[in-house]
Amino acid sequence: MENEGLPQKLVLEELDSRLRNDFTYGSGRIIGSMCTCPHPLARKAYALFIDRNLGDSGLFPAVAKLEKETVRMLGTLLSNPKASGHIVTGGTEANTLALWAARKLSKKKNCEVIVPASAHCSFDKAADQLGLKIVKVGLNTRFQVDVEAVRKRVNSNTVAIVGIAGTTGLGIVDQISELSEIAAENSLYLHVDAAFGGFILPFLREMGWKVPDFDFSSPGVCSVTIDPHKMGLAPIPAGGILFRNEKLRKTVAWNVSYLAGGETEQATLAGTRSGASVIAVWSLLKHLGKEGYKRIVARCMRLTWKLAEEVREIKGLDIVTEPTLNIVGIKSEGFDVRQLAKELRVRNWAVSLFPSHIRIVVMPHIQKQHVERFLSDLKDIANKLGG
Ligand SMILES: Cc1ncc(COP(=O)(O)O)c(C=O)c1O
Repeated sequence: MENEGLPQKLVLEELDSRLRNDFTYGSGRIIGSMCTCPHPLARKAYALFIDRNLGDSGLFPAVAKLEKETVRMLGTLLSNPKASGHIVTGGTEANTLALWAARKLSKKKNCEVIVPASAHCSFDKAADQLGLKIVKVGLNTRFQVDVEAVRKRVNSNTVAIVGIAGTTGLGIVDQISELSEIAAENSLYLHVDAAFGGFILPFLREMGWKVPDFDFSSPGVCSVTIDPHKMGLAPIPAGGILFRNEKLRKTVAWNVSYLAGGETEQATLAGTRSGASVIAVWSLLKHLGKEGYKRIVARCMRLTWKLAEEVREIKGLDIVTEPTLNIVGIKSEGFDVRQLAKELRVRNWAVSLFPSHIRIVVMPHIQKQHVERFLSDLKDIANKLGG
């Protein structure tokens, strides 16, 4: 730290020069991330109200009201206008809150949670903090969790089951209604991680696609994660945790008495938390509306199919499975995908590497010309690697 501070102009100049060479969304080079360029309105709303703290909601009751409205809008998208919850820091916090609620509701001692092998690592993190045992269950040929295997793994220590609506690696949607039946038969908590799919599946359904039940429409679903900072176009941080009802949300609520705004209730992991995030999400839902999100989702899906189709044509490469969401998994029988990822990174493509495939996420910042440039490099590298 400097003894005498630097002038603002100098600090800004240094930031500009030091950050200039990082990846940008606008370049189209970030082609393996679930994040995107925030919508201009969300940036504006966020900047205008950056000082709002929802940890001390007594000071900002109007923001707290906007959060309730936001949760109601998201709940309505997920077939439950009565859902209760919060805008949190992301999918990790949302999934942690869900497992915390499940553990608190249960009277069991050695709690176990059944999760798909395809689950995001946030469940491992949460389990480590909460002292839960994670039981991972394998996938069927469609990369969904094997429902019969889930049924078999339920035992007297099981407290919760997790299903995923939009897996991290391939964007697959688990059979939530079947998991809901297992949860109901065994009086278990069912959490759905729709961190990624939550801002896509409702709009595909609205556009007349055959979308399987993935949300509160299945009666056993107790909570859903839905992240505005992924396909919702909101600035980071903005995750969402929705509980089926207020009673479930209250499971993780604490009263905090010392605050300037008076005694308040906090039901998030963070104490002090961004009101600006809530304001940004509220603004986007109001501004884009269903039609706006439908247009964004439709465009991403069209580009996804183009990419998938053309990857199939490249000698030595194939797609892992037909895309369900705007994610394409690229695999190869002939050569190591780690080598392929390395070569793509040398050419400045920020792709995401999984054990046996490369993940491409066609987010809203990806344009047709980016996909074409990517395909041309991919073809070139595959030719080289294929010898
Ligand atoms: C399905 C799923 N759940 C949860 C998360 C964690 O979200 P975050 O990184 O916002 O904590 C991710 C991240 O990509 C994800 O894909």
